[in-house]
Amino acid sequence: MFITFEGIDGSGKSTQIQLLKEYFHHKGLSCYVFREPGGTVISEEIRKILLEGGDEMNPVTELLLFSSARSQLISQEVLPLIRKGEIVMLDRFYDSTVAYQGYGRQSVSLQDIHQLNTIASHHTVPDVTFYLKLPPNVAADRTETQEKDRMERAGESFFKRVAEGFDNLSKQEERFKTIDAHKPVEQIHQQIVNLIESML
Ligand code: TYD
Repeated sequence: MFITFEGIDGSGKSTQIQLLKEYFHHKGLSCYVFREPGGTVISEEIRKILLEGGDEMNPVTELLLFSSARSQLISQEVLPLIRKGEIVMLDRFYDSTVAYQGYGRQSVSLQDIHQLNTIASHHTVPDVTFYLKLPPNVAADRTETQEKDRMERAGESFFKRVAEGFDNLSKQEERFKTIDAHKPVEQIHQQIVNLIESML
C-alpha cells in the first residue's frame, strides 16, 4: 500500500505520519516512511541544494531538482518495497510539486508539471493521499518561531496559491482524502485510521 501525506508547511503531517506508523506497528505490520525531497543519499544531497541554497535559484531548476530527488527515491526505495507488498508512507509526493511549483511559482504550465510528475514518479500513483487542510495564515502562525528554509521564505501570497493548489487537487483527485487540520491531533489520527481500515 502506498500512502502519501500533503499539506502546506505547518499542517501537522509529520505528527500524523508518526502516529500512523505506531498504529501499523501495534498491528504487527511493518511500514516504511520517507520524506520528500530526501530518503536516499542522492535525494538528501538534492534536498540540501533545494532548501539551503540561495534565493537566486531559477524556478525551472527548482522544479527539476524536486523531480530528480523524487525519481531517485521512487526507483531506489519505494518501488522495490511496493512490489514486495510493503506499506510505504511518504511525507509529500508529486502533489506538492503541483501546489508549490505549479500554483506557487507559476513558472511552468500545470500540464507540463503533470507530465514531469508522471516521469519522475516512474508512473507510480498513491493508493490514498491524506490532505491536511489548514488556512495559510493559521499554518504561518504555527511555524512563525521556526527558522525558515528557502521555500518557507516565499511569502504570504505564495502560500495562498499553494493552498489553492491543494484545494483544487482535492476536488480533482479521488484518492485525495481531505482532513480538517484544525481538529485535535488524536481526532485526526482516528479519522485516518478509519479510512486505512476500510482499505486493508
Ligand atoms: P520540509 O522541511 O520537509 O517541509 P515540511 O516539513 O513542511 O514537509 O521541506 C520541504 C519543502 O519543500 C516544503 O516547503 C515544501 C517544498 N516542496 C516543494 O516545493 N515541492 C515539492 O515537490 C516537494 C516534495 C516539497
